[in-house]
Amino acid sequence: MAIIQFPKDFLWGAATAAYQIEGAHDKDGRGTSIWDTFSRIPGKVKNGDNGDIACDSYNRYEQDIALLKGLGVGAYRFSAAWPRIFPNGTGEINRAGLDYYHRLVDGLLAKGIEPYCTLYHWDLPQALQDRGGWNNRETIDAFTAYCEPMFKEFGGKIKHWFTINEPWCVSFLSNYIGAHAPGNRDLQLATNVAHHLLVAHGSAVRKFRELGIEGKIGYAPNVTWIEPYSSRQEDIDASRRATGWFVEWFLDPVFKGEYPEFLVEWFAGKGVTVPILEGDMEIITQPLDFVGINYYTGNVGRYQKDEGLLDCENIDEGYEKTDIDWFIYPRGFYKVLTYIHERYGNVPIYITENGACFNDEPVDGRVRDERRIDYLKRHLTQLERAIASGVPVSGYFTWSLMDNFEWAEGYSKRFGLVHVDYNTLKRTPKDSYYWYKHIARTNWFEV
Ligand code: BGC
Repeated sequence: MAIIQFPKDFLWGAATAAYQIEGAHDKDGRGTSIWDTFSRIPGKVKNGDNGDIACDSYNRYEQDIALLKGLGVGAYRFSAAWPRIFPNGTGEINRAGLDYYHRLVDGLLAKGIEPYCTLYHWDLPQALQDRGGWNNRETIDAFTAYCEPMFKEFGGKIKHWFTINEPWCVSFLSNYIGAHAPGNRDLQLATNVAHHLLVAHGSAVRKFRELGIEGKIGYAPNVTWIEPYSSRQEDIDASRRATGWFVEWFLDPVFKGEYPEFLVEWFAGKGVTVPILEGDMEIITQPLDFVGINYYTGNVGRYQKDEGLLDCENIDEGYEKTDIDWFIYPRGFYKVLTYIHERYGNVPIYITENGACFNDEPVDGRVRDERRIDYLKRHLTQLERAIASGVPVSGYFTWSLMDNFEWAEGYSKRFGLVHVDYNTLKRTPKDSYYWYKHIARTNWFEV
């Protein structure tokens, strides 16, 4: 038995995102998002599910704040839905949308819970997609124009902001692999999207500073760690590409002002270039107050000619998997955090997402999700190792507060500490909720 102890003042939190929990898709003037459209295309989302109702958190936010309070967390990371604020992406602002987030934020503050707000967690207004979405540079200006009133309205009240959640998913997963909205399958287009997202991020940060908003700002890329299968150079190179597609591609431009040459060359070999215009890199490299890191899984990678985009094959070494089929790879959490620290220096880090899909259901009113507790223990143990090694991590948000709309998987995959019955919308805290409550209160746990 050992005690894993976290530093004094370490922040414990839980995370969600608007489209995944809010529902109320047509209430109070909300516009249509690309996920409303995508989820209506047959075959795109499992069981034809959509976020029309989701967890109905828009109407039940008080209940959800009470769950956060019961959990004892110091912070809640949620996202604002752009289509609630600007139903058409740009133009006229929707007061009712702003009012909803005031109710939410006031409710959190009244309970002593700090709001951490993500400005873009994937629900692009459809009106902008109709004009090319993130492939069109006008969306960069539209994003900045959406952020500005958000900053002015909530500045000082919301003190921690994230511009964009998981730019890899928004670009490559959604526009090259095509699994998420809008579902394109075009590498050049996806590369354009990735670049425009980074410019949009930088542009929003610049606006935040110009306005002199009280508070801090960063973004939240998702990372992984692909360990080379062997010490053969070709395996080392292949796994470096596979990790770099997530890490260097989305952090080098922000922290070093350039794209990683080894990947740019690789993409050039596929006939793809990054559409950098004059001034873009200066916009992207705005100094940040922190970076949010999302980590779920990692793996072992081996060189295999023509395997995927990067000639890197995922090797199944028999690691356990979660119910979404992702390898449980806690060691990668430590590896990638220490790597980020080495490569980008002392930028403060929040773990903005980490958690597991396990589909346990209530039995006699109780959800015994030991596997989630085990996942969390193993990852938090690696996180503590990283902190002990000098990685400046100030807080951890688990994904997710409650089961919710898991994108292309619909309601078939559950990541919550709280179970949601999608027929009745009843919330039932799982065993992991009570386990997490202990650590949020005491800062330590036993392994
Ligand atoms: C996203 C969440 C998602 C979770 C599990 C992250 O990629 O930010 O919205 O639910 O992972 O897939």
